[in-house]
Amino acid sequence: MTDSRIPTVRLGEGGPEVGVQGLGCMGMSFAYGPSDAGESRATLERALELGVTLYDTADAYGQGENERFLAPFFRAHRDEVVIATKFALAIPPDEPTKRIIRNDPPYIRQAVEASLERLDVDVIDLYYMHRRDVNVPIEETVGTMADLVREGKVKHLGLSEVTADELRAAQAVHPIAAVQSEWSLFSRDIEAHVVPAAADLGVALVPYSPLGRGFLTGSFVDAEKELSGDDFRRNMPRFQGENAAANAALLEPVRAVASAHGASLAQIALAWVQQRASVHGLPVVQIPGTRKPSRVEENVAATRIVLTGEELSSLEPIAGRVAGTRYPDMSFASAGRE
Ligand SMILES: NC(=O)c1ccc[n+]([C@@H]2O[C@H](COP(=O)([O-])OP(=O)(O)OC[C@H]3O[C@@H](n4cnc5c(N)ncnc54)[C@H](OP(=O)(O)O)[C@@H]3O)[C@@H](O)[C@H]2O)c1
Repeated sequence: MTDSRIPTVRLGEGGPEVGVQGLGCMGMSFAYGPSDAGESRATLERALELGVTLYDTADAYGQGENERFLAPFFRAHRDEVVIATKFALAIPPDEPTKRIIRNDPPYIRQAVEASLERLDVDVIDLYYMHRRDVNVPIEETVGTMADLVREGKVKHLGLSEVTADELRAAQAVHPIAAVQSEWSLFSRDIEAHVVPAAADLGVALVPYSPLGRGFLTGSFVDAEKELSGDDFRRNMPRFQGENAAANAALLEPVRAVASAHGASLAQIALAWVQQRASVHGLPVVQIPGTRKPSRVEENVAATRIVLTGEELSSLEPIAGRVAGTRYPDMSFASAGRE
């Protein structure tokens, strides 16, 4: 392998060892407008060459379509990749802001079998609860997930958008390898409770949407005007009208830091997440999503950027000034339950 491969890190005590940056695969089949399947496949292959080994999907992405799309790539590289998928969430195609959330044992058992079949594998490396159904005690949910580990259907467990208390309750039932939650220059709510709890428990963080769903790269401003009709980001308060215009102005210090490093905005956003992780003292494997080989190269190269204290200070106020919430309904996110 070449020198350009990224270093590895362990996801939680006893969790899998993976490249320090993963790849979010959601956009290949869902949420972010039209995709080119050939280009997405080339992106997967290029990522692997660069040392990216954690590939993130979910049963909810395109109602199983994303898992099916990834299956041939996983089959071709089964021993080199760590497959992460999720259960608990269904998004009706005709109601993109609606969420149907299930955490009950019969649902989990049916979901894992369906994911195993679509992915065409015998075992899922990292199985996440995607969203919390507050009607089911978390001990019951994680108890069923732990049974899946004992039965050899799943190797490691993860939780997405859980609160610190939920994480502690879960960890008392079975070791949790990773918490996956939104973490970026624009979204820092998890730094208050979830990140310190994860650091304390030896659980890794897998930040999703570290590029602020693309907004932090400067590639769009007003989602309703600039993105395709089926693009999920049109429903997000931060990317709409006056909020979007105000939030675009917040990127000025990111541009200044990018220019000093001869780097892109995307690279500074990723370098920032990586450095916040070291401040909090826990393993972090962010999963930027892209469908383009050139962007995976650019994003992986960000693992070599080190920001100065002064640069970090200039980026510090951004999150506190963001207009609009990160979801239309925050009750599904951990911050809505803290
Ligand atoms: N657990 C959860 O609830 C949850 C929620 C959301 C996402 N996720 C996971 O996290 C992954 C990443 O999050 P995300 O995809 O929402 O957001 P993200 O990684 O913050 O941003 C993805 C967007 O940025 C663009 N992009 C990527 N690299 C770029 C670059 N170097 N320059 C310019 N634009 C670039 C992508 O476009 P192209 O694809 O066209 O390159 C895409 O539109 C997802 O794929 C999914 O697996 C999990």
